[in-house]
Amino acid sequence: GENGTAVTGAGSSQDGRLAAGENANTLTTRQGHPVYDNQNLRTVGNRGPATLENYQFLEKISHFDRERVPERVVHARGAGAHGIFEAYGKVGDEAIDKYTRAKLFNTPGKETPVFVRFSTVGHGGHSPETLRDPRGFAVKFYTEDGNWDLVGNNLKVFFIRDALKFPDLIHSQKPDPVTNRQSGERIFDFICNTPEAMHMVSFLFSPWGIPANYRQMQGSGVNTYKWVNKEGVGVLVKYHWEPLQGIKNLTQPEAEAIQAKNFNHATQDLYEAIKAGNFPQWELRVQIMSDDEHPELDFDPLDDTKIWPEDQFPHLPVGKMTLNKNPENYFAEVEQAAFGTGVLVDGLDFSDDKMLQGRTFSYSDTQRYRVGTNYLQLPINAPKKHVATNQRDGQMAYHVDSAPGQNLHVNYEPSSLQGLKESPRAGAEHMPAYEGRLVRQAIDRTNNFKQAGERYRLHEEWERNDLINNMTGALADAAQVIQDKMIDLCSQCDADWGRRLAEGLQNARNGNAGATQANESKASAAVHEAEAIAH
Ligand code: HEM
Repeated sequence: GENGTAVTGAGSSQDGRLAAGENANTLTTRQGHPVYDNQNLRTVGNRGPATLENYQFLEKISHFDRERVPERVVHARGAGAHGIFEAYGKVGDEAIDKYTRAKLFNTPGKETPVFVRFSTVGHGGHSPETLRDPRGFAVKFYTEDGNWDLVGNNLKVFFIRDALKFPDLIHSQKPDPVTNRQSGERIFDFICNTPEAMHMVSFLFSPWGIPANYRQMQGSGVNTYKWVNKEGVGVLVKYHWEPLQGIKNLTQPEAEAIQAKNFNHATQDLYEAIKAGNFPQWELRVQIMSDDEHPELDFDPLDDTKIWPEDQFPHLPVGKMTLNKNPENYFAEVEQAAFGTGVLVDGLDFSDDKMLQGRTFSYSDTQRYRVGTNYLQLPINAPKKHVATNQRDGQMAYHVDSAPGQNLHVNYEPSSLQGLKESPRAGAEHMPAYEGRLVRQAIDRTNNFKQAGERYRLHEEWERNDLINNMTGALADAAQVIQDKMIDLCSQCDADWGRRLAEGLQNARNGNAGATQANESKASAAVHEAEAIAH
C-alpha cells in the first residue's frame, strides 16, 4: 500500500529470521537486539542519574543526531514519484534511428522505469511551495543501457548562459547573508547587470513563475543536447515535457491565498493524485537542428536564454511518461536521489553549451559531498541492470560492484586473471572537430531582448498585469540605480513594458501604490498593512 501500510521497506536487507519470542513487529536495535523497554532510560533508581553504558539509548539518540544530510544547495524543497516511460518508437512521423541509437526510444511501446523529482529552487527543504521560483523537473530513466538523467526545469529558458555566473546568480536569490531574508533589491541588482536574464524575467515574474502544482506544469531540458545515430552523426536536440493534465499557473494573490493555509500544497497534490489512481502523464517532445552554428538564425542554438521557435523547429513526440507510484520512504528515495546532466546513455551526447558543461561537473561533485562517495550504490540511484566497476571502498561502501564469476582479487584493468573487460562499441563514435583560440568571451549573437519582448506581447493581459505588479513590488524598495536600469532593460524588450514599470515605480514612490497595483489582492494589501503597523 502507499499510505503507511508499506510492509517491506525498499531495500530492507535483513533476512528476517525471528528469535524466540519475537514476531514481525518486534522492535529491535540495529544490532538486532530486541528492545524490552522503549520508555525508560536505565537509571540509578527511578529519579536518575543515568548511566553511560546505556547502549540502546546512545544508539537511538546518536542516530537521531545524524538524521539530516546537507540539503541540496539549490532545489532543496521537492517531491518525487516513480513511473514508467513508454516510447513511441519514432520521432514525430519519422524513424527515430535516423537521429539516435539510444535504445530506450527505438521500439513502439518499449517501457523504461523512471523516477521523477519536482522542486522549487531558492529556499530550504520545508519552504512554502507557493513561492515564485522556477520549478525543477528531474527525470531518471533506468534504461537497459544504464541510467539517463534529464535534469530540467518547468520554464524553457534560464537566467544566464555561462556556468561561471551560476554561484552569483544563486547568491543574489538566496537570503541576504546579513538579514537572512530574500530581497528584491539583491535579485534585481544582479539581473539589471545581467541583460541575458530578461527572457527568464518575462516568465518568472508573470504567473508562469508560480505553477499551480507539479502535475499541471511543463518541463524542459533547457540546455541543448545531442542525439547520435549508428553512423556517429550528431544532431542538436532540445527536450520538452508537455503535461496531459494541461497547464495551470497562479497569480501572486492566488498563491498568497493558498500559502495562508497550506505550504505543502504541491507535494500534497502529487501524492494524493497518485494515491487515488489519478496518474499524471507527460508527453516527451523534442526539437531537432543540424549540428552547426546556424548563422541564419538571430540567436545561437546553444544559448539557453533562447527558445527555438516552434514554427521552424516543431515539437516532435517521442514517448509518454506516467507517474504511478508514490515513494515508500521520502528520505531514501526523494532526498537521496541524485540527478546530473552528465548521466547520458549511448546515442545521447553533450552539446558545446557552456552552461551544460559547467552543470555536468557540478552535480556529481555536490552529490559526493551531499550524499556521499558511494551515492550510486543506493537503490534509488543504482541502475536496474548489470553494474561492474573497479571502484572500491570509501565511506558507506555497501557492496562490491562485481560481476558473477569475476575474480574478486582483480580490481584493476587490464588483467589476464578474469578481471573486467571493455565492452564492444554500440556504433560509430561521434567525433566533432574543433579548431579555435582558447578565450574568455561572450557568444556573438547575444540578442538579449527580442524574445523577451515577444514573450511580453504574447502574454495575456492578466499575465502582463501580474508581471508589472510583481516587478513593481519586488523593486519598490530597491536603490534608484537598480530601478532605472530595470526600466531601461524592460524598455529595450518592449516600450510598453518599460513605461508601465516606470509608472508603477513612480506611483510606489509617491506612496500611491493603489493606483498602479489595482490588481493587487486584498491579501497582499493586508500584508503591507500588517508590515506598516509592525513598523
Ligand atoms: C540541482 C548546479 C543550472 C535544474 C542542482 C544542484 C546543483 C546544481 C549543485 C544540487 C544537486 C544535488 O544536490 O543533488 C547547477 C549549476 C548550474 C545549474 C552549476 C548552471 C551552471 C540548472 C539549469 C537547470 C537546473 C539550467 C534546468 C534545466 C536543476 C534541477 C535540480 C538541480 C531540476 C534538482 C534535481 C533534483 O531534484 O535532485 N543544480 N545547476 N539547473 N538543478 Fe541545477
